[in-house]
Amino acid sequence: MGGCPFRNVKESSSFAASWTQFAAGTISGPIGSERTLDTTTEVGVETVDSDGGTVTIQPFGETLDVKPGESALLAILRQGRFVKYGCKHGGCSTCRASVVEGEYRASSGTSFSLSDADRDAGIVLLCSTFPEGDLVVDVEATMDDLNEDAYRAGQTVLEVVGTVDRNEELSHDIRWLGLRLDPGTTFPFVAGQYVEVRVPGTEDTWRSYSMANPPSETGPVDLIIKMIPGGAFSGGLDKLTHGDRIPLRGPFGQFGVRLSHRPMVMIAGGSGMAPVLAMLHDLIAFGNRREVLFLFGARTERDLIMVAELEKLAATHPWLRFVPALSEDVPADAGWTGERGLVTDVLARLVPSTQGYEGYLCGPPPMIDAAIEVLQANGCKTRHIYFDRFVPSG
Ligand SMILES: Cc1cc2nc3c(=O)[nH]c(=O)nc-3n(C[C@H](O)[C@H](O)[C@H](O)COP(=O)(O)OP(=O)(O)OC[C@H]3O[C@@H](n4cnc5c(N)ncnc54)[C@H](O)[C@@H]3O)c2cc1C
Ligand code: FES
Repeated sequence: MGGCPFRNVKESSSFAASWTQFAAGTISGPIGSERTLDTTTEVGVETVDSDGGTVTIQPFGETLDVKPGESALLAILRQGRFVKYGCKHGGCSTCRASVVEGEYRASSGTSFSLSDADRDAGIVLLCSTFPEGDLVVDVEATMDDLNEDAYRAGQTVLEVVGTVDRNEELSHDIRWLGLRLDPGTTFPFVAGQYVEVRVPGTEDTWRSYSMANPPSETGPVDLIIKMIPGGAFSGGLDKLTHGDRIPLRGPFGQFGVRLSHRPMVMIAGGSGMAPVLAMLHDLIAFGNRREVLFLFGARTERDLIMVAELEKLAATHPWLRFVPALSEDVPADAGWTGERGLVTDVLARLVPSTQGYEGYLCGPPPMIDAAIEVLQANGCKTRHIYFDRFVPSG
């Protein structure tokens, strides 16, 4: 059992350690059509050499087949059913289920997303669970607002085309990519969700990016993208020009503001700004009054983005406090009067008790993991912490 406390987990000795390229490419048909996602291998999903078998989903009592090397989540989506999920990499904790019986292999992606208590209680992440034989899982307690109609309706994925109408630097390595949908095309989504963008020049290589605009703006799909040197998509951003057309599909993900009365702490780093910006504009559109503290972490001043826009939003909306923080040493004569230190240290200073708060976190996985620890340690309930890890999706 190799250190895994849960009895039904087999040691997965044959993880393909690398992230796989998207291989199936089974979504076809006219652009702009609505289809059920049908794919066996997905972007960024770690492959595990498993036997496959079946997965039975309780409380709905349906048994679905699972191919060798296929996760329970992808088997469910492939067969036109829906359960809640986000990243598909074991990074967001959305696709939680409890194992009733059966054996499976678990991919290593869950290391930060499940606590020891979860594992002891038999909780798994369906995206990282690879059935071996007949596996029975229960989603009733872990996805409490998933009803049978939503489960059986499956997932509809829109395929649309975006035309580049803005491509500009926000910082030395972050760009704003503004896409416009064709007139008459609709692309409904929830603030916090992401879209998959097809890498130009490829048939079936996709990358995930969170929408930075709120859903109330119909027409644009605005993205905030960190440029990775040599990156298949972001490395070619410089070459995208006004009028270029890019296939998109989505929306995906469960990240987004939950309805409640609780004050919120939002923490983002780098291009993690995108979904937070969408959520803030969405809150404004709905006349929000809940207190929001938005901490934005950057290494140096040259890594800060959109500070003027956020300060303006905070000045005009009393419930919003925006605090940018620089983690690298800033020379005393540099003129920086804002917060210094890791965003997690700033959080602990500004909100010593996070009891009763909700946490919304987005950006690089190490920042998110550190922020979860601080939020929990200072009183925030684990179930009130929501996050989207920007794990490499290629
Ligand atoms: C749900 C979700 C939402 C996301 N939303 C956003 C978003 O809004 N904005 C955004 O910028 N990104 C976002 N990402 C990450 C994004 O999908 C891509 O992974 C990223 O842009 C790299 O793609 P690429 O094709 O440019 O590079 P690739 O060709 O995929 O990668 C090239 C190399 O760079 C490495 N690499 C990839 N990302 C990083 C990184 N951040 N730092 C260092 N090395 C890296 C890869 O491992 C690989 O070795 C999101 C990811 C997920 C899963
Ligand atoms: S979808 Fe399974 S952890 Fe994110």
